[in-house]
Amino acid sequence: MRVITTVEEMKALSHEARRGAVFTMGALHEGHAQLMRECRQLIGADGLLVVSIFVNPTQFGDASDLENYPRTLDADIALCERNGVDVVFAPSVEEMMPADVVLPQFSAGELGTVLEGKSRPGHFDAVATVVHRLITITEPDVSCFGEKDFQQVVVVRQMVADAQLDVNIVGVPTVRETDGLAMSSRNVHLSAEERRIASVISRSLAAAASVASSGADAAIAAGLEVLSSEPAVVVDYFDIRGTDLGEAPTTGEARALVAVTLGGVRLIDNAPLTLGLVR
Ligand code: PAF
Repeated sequence: MRVITTVEEMKALSHEARRGAVFTMGALHEGHAQLMRECRQLIGADGLLVVSIFVNPTQFGDASDLENYPRTLDADIALCERNGVDVVFAPSVEEMMPADVVLPQFSAGELGTVLEGKSRPGHFDAVATVVHRLITITEPDVSCFGEKDFQQVVVVRQMVADAQLDVNIVGVPTVRETDGLAMSSRNVHLSAEERRIASVISRSLAAAASVASSGADAAIAAGLEVLSSEPAVVVDYFDIRGTDLGEAPTTGEARALVAVTLGGVRLIDNAPLTLGLVR
C-alpha cells in the first residue's frame, strides 16, 4: 500500500486498472471499512482502491469543531492496510487548496439549506466543492459513500450530474452496532448511559417504517413518539422526504431522516420506507 501526499503524485498514477475511491476525513471505523469492501467488490481484485484522508476545513461551521475533530492518521493507515487499500491519499490543506489557485466552487442549492443544511449553513456547498476536487485528483470510476450521511450522497450525486463527471456514485447502507445505533466517529463522545439511550434513534426509524402505509404524517408521529420516551434526547428534526429529499410522495419509496442531540453530541440517522398502500 502506498501513502501519497501530493496532488502531482496522485495524478501521475497510471490509469490502467479500474479505480474505486472512498473519501474520508479519517477517524476511520467499521463503517468506512465497509465502504472499502464494497468499493473493492465493484472494481474487482485487479482494481486500484484509493482512500483519501483529508479533514476539509471549509465544511466545518465552527473553528472549535474543526480543532477537536479526531486525527488518527497512523491508525487510519493501518485500517486501510488491513482492508486491502492500494493507495492512501492524505494531502495537506495547502496541497488541496493552494492559496494561489482558484478552484471550481459548487453550490448544493436548495438541498443545502434543509435538514442538516439548516443548522450547518454552507456545509454542503463545501462538501460538494471538496468532493469535486477529490474526484478530479483521484479520477475514480466508482466512489462509495455511506448512506448514514444520506443528504451528502444526494448532494454529491447532484454535483456529479451538474459537473458531468464520469464517476458512478454508490450509496452503501449504514453499518450498525448490535443495538441498531448507526456507526459514527461521534459515538465515542457518548457516556455509557447516553450510548444505551442512543439506540432509541434507530428504533424511532423502525417505528416510522412500521406505520408508513398510513402515510408520512403517521410515520413522523410514530418516530417522534418513540424519541419522546427518552427525555435526554433533544430532537432537531424527524422528517419524511422523497428519495431525492424533495417533498415526500403520497405513496412509494421515501426516506425517514432524524437528527438529535444527546449529552451535547449531535447524532443523525435515516432509513428507507415505503409510504401509502402500494399495490
Ligand atoms: O463524509 C465525509 O467524511 C466528508 O464529508 C467527505 C465526503 C470526505 C468530504 O470531506
